[in-house]
Amino acid sequence: MKPVRKAVFPVAGLGTRFLPATKAIPKEMLTLVDRPLIQYAIEEAREAGIEQFIFVTGRGKGALEDHFDIAYELEATMSARGKSLDVLASTRKKPGSVVSVRQQEPLGLGHAVWCARDIVGDEPFAVLLPDEVMVGKPNCLKQMVEAYAQVGGNLVAALEVPPEETHKYGVVDPGARDGRLTEIRGLVEKPPQGTAPSNLMLPGRYILQPEVMRALDAHEKGAGGEIQLTDAMAKMIGHQPFHAFAFEGERHDCGSAAGFVIANIALSLRRDDVAPAVRDYLASL
Ligand code: UTP
Repeated sequence: MKPVRKAVFPVAGLGTRFLPATKAIPKEMLTLVDRPLIQYAIEEAREAGIEQFIFVTGRGKGALEDHFDIAYELEATMSARGKSLDVLASTRKKPGSVVSVRQQEPLGLGHAVWCARDIVGDEPFAVLLPDEVMVGKPNCLKQMVEAYAQVGGNLVAALEVPPEETHKYGVVDPGARDGRLTEIRGLVEKPPQGTAPSNLMLPGRYILQPEVMRALDAHEKGAGGEIQLTDAMAKMIGHQPFHAFAFEGERHDCGSAAGFVIANIALSLRRDDVAPAVRDYLASL
């Protein structure tokens, strides 16, 4: 079984649910405490053993690439003032390990992933949606990589949500369950209310085989008129092993304002340097 060395970060979406914040800055650059969302996703991937980070970007998303570049003027000024550069260490990546491809039009998540097909090549790969922040120890992708070593094939993180929310997500039709792993019999994107096969949704962490790119070649439009990753994955069921993985930890939907604010509170309470002040303020409320 080939190891999972590459990860795709689709970041070409327009972030319309978060306007006006996302008019001139990418959604993935919004900050949780003092780091942009993209940095949490990159760190999660790195800890899980990923060596190549593939951004699928669009117009106006240059800040994402700059964030993982060297900021000479900033560093020179900080050094001249005797300030430590340690705070920037996690934004430095091995030369050549961050690769960008362009999705010229935001035609959907499936299309964004397909844009990375030549860089992914003939290897299994991970997909991480940076606006979904996962908090766990070990982190979500690392837990998945460990499970993948046992079952191979395709593995997607899955979480239970209240049944009245399933119409917003990709949803699993579950088969046999074995501990944290559930066989997938079917997948459906944004099922109309009351029709979902379960309340097990896909929160945005995937380990996929390269054959999914062939399924995406067809450019078939699905829910919302977009080319959906869920539909392409559904075509692989029955041909390759396909499991849902119940990861242990918290998920924060940072693509919506309420989820983002909650994530900021949750993550700040985990930080020794800011937690006391935040806790005092919350207590005063
Ligand atoms: P979302 O649907 O959450 O992001 O896609 P969005 O389209 O930017 O946001 P809204 O719904 O308009 O508010 C999940 C992820 O897939 C990427 C997004 O950037 C986000 O990280 N994406 C989505 C693409 O890269 N390309 C697309 O065509 C669609």
